[in-house]
Amino acid sequence: MMKATAQRLSALNVLYFATLAPRIRKLREQGVDVIRLDIGSPDLPPPQAVVAALNECAARPDVHGYGHHRGTQALREAWAELYAKNHRVDLDPGTEIVPLVGSKEGIFHLTQTVVEKGDVVLLPDPGYVTYASSASFAGGEMYAMPLRAEENYLPDLESIPENILARAKILWLNYPNNPTGALATRKFFKTAVQFAQRHNLLLCHDAAYTQVTYDGVRAASIFEIEGAKEVAVEFNTLSKSYNMAGWRVGVAVGNTKALAALYTLKSHTDSGHFLPIQEAAVAAMAVDQAWVDERNAIYQRRRDLVLKALREIEAVFAVPQGAIYIWCACPQGLTSAEVTESLLDDAGLSLAPGSMFGAFADSHVRISLCTPEDRLQQAMDRLIKWWQKPRGGSR
Ligand SMILES: Cc1ncc(COP(=O)(O)O)c(C=O)c1O
Repeated sequence: MMKATAQRLSALNVLYFATLAPRIRKLREQGVDVIRLDIGSPDLPPPQAVVAALNECAARPDVHGYGHHRGTQALREAWAELYAKNHRVDLDPGTEIVPLVGSKEGIFHLTQTVVEKGDVVLLPDPGYVTYASSASFAGGEMYAMPLRAEENYLPDLESIPENILARAKILWLNYPNNPTGALATRKFFKTAVQFAQRHNLLLCHDAAYTQVTYDGVRAASIFEIEGAKEVAVEFNTLSKSYNMAGWRVGVAVGNTKALAALYTLKSHTDSGHFLPIQEAAVAAMAVDQAWVDERNAIYQRRRDLVLKALREIEAVFAVPQGAIYIWCACPQGLTSAEVTESLLDDAGLSLAPGSMFGAFADSHVRISLCTPEDRLQQAMDRLIKWWQKPRGGSR
């Protein structure tokens, strides 16, 4: 019989999506036609050249050993070129780029290298769950920075109390934002960099969705701000940019000291990517911007389809400028779990409850756009019908 698990594990529960998947499988086995608009896993394929590069490389006999811990020079140079092309940012492939097995892994591990018991981590609420779970696993305390519609989903840094700042180690930001779809202004990024400098914080910017934007707007890298490398690390990924979520290709770039610490830990936890995946990642980053624009146009049509339905039922929502979600307020009087449970049980529609993104987020649900238009329309028809059903005085 195994002895007790470590105390630190009590900080974690199995991720919501990991528990949802078997539940949905069971419902489908029972004949329920569940539409999943919960998780943000792109349904479209990566560029052709990516799969071709993988196949071609995998057929070689000499590529099946361990990949390099720090990735191939070609992979790191591809990231540097992408940053130069998209952001006019110079990165040294030798010291300022650490490939990750998906950015989630790096987000979790970087926190372990910085946060000690009693340290504070400043995180957006709503926010991506791994900022919080990695902080609590490290024994840290969380300070939630509410993101409000009336403040364009930018946190009010000046409202963070001095006694919290004195103990704070990491400031998390994420734009384009999951789940609200908001973009940050350059002015805000500049303020955030100066704030991190003033309070000795490591500014971690999660740029997972920088290449998924709408209406022709462009999302910035934190390194477009002068002095950012002194205080910041940025996380990026091919998961959403090139529809490669299953490939697990991410990166951390920026501050060399933070990256050196992350690399030390990572050299003990993984052994790099399969070489054909690295070659395929290089091929992805070389594709023409037109491919990205066309893919974003598909998401934009889906976005507009969902927004049309939400307007029809007079729901309150944020119009996303980027990322692949719609952040929508629940019908008055209902919590996010009440909405998602009822929708799943009564309408065969699965959305993500706001509660998984933080304490301030329980009044909202997240609708993912990773589903083709015909099926998305079907989902919206179900949502409208459910929303308009009389509900025992709760609204
Ligand atoms: C904001 C944000 N950051 C990071 C990730 C993790 O992406 P990956 O681990 O696939 O690179 C996600 C995934 O949904 C995300 O939404």
